[in-house]
Amino acid sequence: MTSASSIDPKQFRRALGSFTTGVTVVTTRSAEGKDVGLTANSFNSVSLEPPLVLWSLDRKSSSAGAFMAADHFAVHILASDQESVSNQFARSGVDRFAGLTLERGHGEVPLLGGCSARFVCRASYRYEGGDHVIMVGEVMSFDSFGRAPLVFHGGNYGLLMKKKAADVGDATSSFGDDWLGFLLGRAYYQMLMPLRADVQRQGLDDIHCNILSALSMGDGRSIAELSRLVEITGHHVGEEHFAGLAARELIVLEGGERVCFTEAGRRYAIELMAAGKSAEADAERELDYNEARLLKMLLKRVIRATGPGLPSHWRKENFWHENNVWGQRTSGATGVASV
Ligand SMILES: Cc1cc2nc3c(=O)[nH]c(=O)nc-3n(C[C@H](O)[C@H](O)[C@H](O)COP(=O)(O)O)c2cc1C
Repeated sequence: MTSASSIDPKQFRRALGSFTTGVTVVTTRSAEGKDVGLTANSFNSVSLEPPLVLWSLDRKSSSAGAFMAADHFAVHILASDQESVSNQFARSGVDRFAGLTLERGHGEVPLLGGCSARFVCRASYRYEGGDHVIMVGEVMSFDSFGRAPLVFHGGNYGLLMKKKAADVGDATSSFGDDWLGFLLGRAYYQMLMPLRADVQRQGLDDIHCNILSALSMGDGRSIAELSRLVEITGHHVGEEHFAGLAARELIVLEGGERVCFTEAGRRYAIELMAAGKSAEADAERELDYNEARLLKMLLKRVIRATGPGLPSHWRKENFWHENNVWGQRTSGATGVASV
C-alpha cells in the first residue's frame, strides 16, 4: 500500500479514477452578469432533509472567483449523448455557452437543456478542501428528465449498463448456449426469421438476398465479384442464383457478365432494407437506448478483432461504391439487411 508521505500524484489520480462517477456541468452567473460554468465529476448527494448536494471546485480554476462569490449555482447531470457538452465546459479560453439554448433559474443562473437531471441550489456552505473548495448547495428546485446518464471512469467516458439478474446467465455453461458464436448466430437468425419467411414466399432464398444486398452497395458488379462478396456468408453462389434473379426481373445481366438492378430489383432491395430496419427495432425492444448503442459498439469491436486477415475485397472501402442504392457517400455507408 502507498503511504501518505510517498504519494505520487499521478498514481493517486489513477487510483481515484477507478471510482466511477457521472459527469455534471455546474453553472452560475457572476457578479458582473457573466454566465460561468465548468465540468465537474466531484458532485455527490449529501442530505435529503434538508436537501443538500456538494461538488468541489479547483481553487486554480478560472471560474473560482465567480463561484466563490455566487449566491446560487445549478448542477446539471449530463445525459449519455452530452459528451461534447462535457468537453466544451472543460475547455479553457473558449465561450463555453456558445451555441447553447439557456433557461434561467434562481439568481438568474443559466440552465442547460438535454441533461438527465438538474438542481438549482442556494450556495449554502463552503469548506476548505486542500487545493479545492467543497461547495455545498441547498437544492431549491430540481428537474429529473429520466435520460440515461453519461458515465466517467478512469479518465474515459462510458455508458451505463444495468446489471440485471436475468442478464447474468448461467455461469456454469461454458459452451453451447453461452458460446459467443452461438449467441451471435441465434440472435441473427431469430431476428431475420420474419424477413426470411417473406423472402421465401417470393420464391427466393438467402443467397438471392445476399446478392441483392451486395448489389445495393454498388450496382453493375461482375458475377465473379458478387460471388466473392457473398462467400463471406459461407454460401457458394452458382449461376442458377443469378439466373433466378434475372427470371424474376430483379436484375439484368449486361453482356452476360455485368449484373445490374432492374427498377423492380432496386425497389425490392429498398423494401428488404426497410424490413431489416423493422426487424432491428423488434430485436432491440427490450434494450434501452444505451444498451442498444453498447451492443453495437461491442459487436464492432468483435468485428475488428476478427477482421485482420480478411481478403481486401471484404473491406468496406473496397466493396461500397458511389452508385449504391441508398445514394450515400462511401464514408457514411451502412449495409443493407441481408439474410
Ligand atoms: C470529466 C471532468 C471532470 C472534472 N471535474 C472537476 C471538478 O470536480 N472540479 C473542478 O474544479 N474541475 C473539474 N474539472 C476541470 C474543469 O472542468 C475545467 O476543465 C478546469 O477547471 C479548467 O478550466 P479553466 O481553464 O477555466 O481553469 C473536470 C474536468 C473534466 C473533463
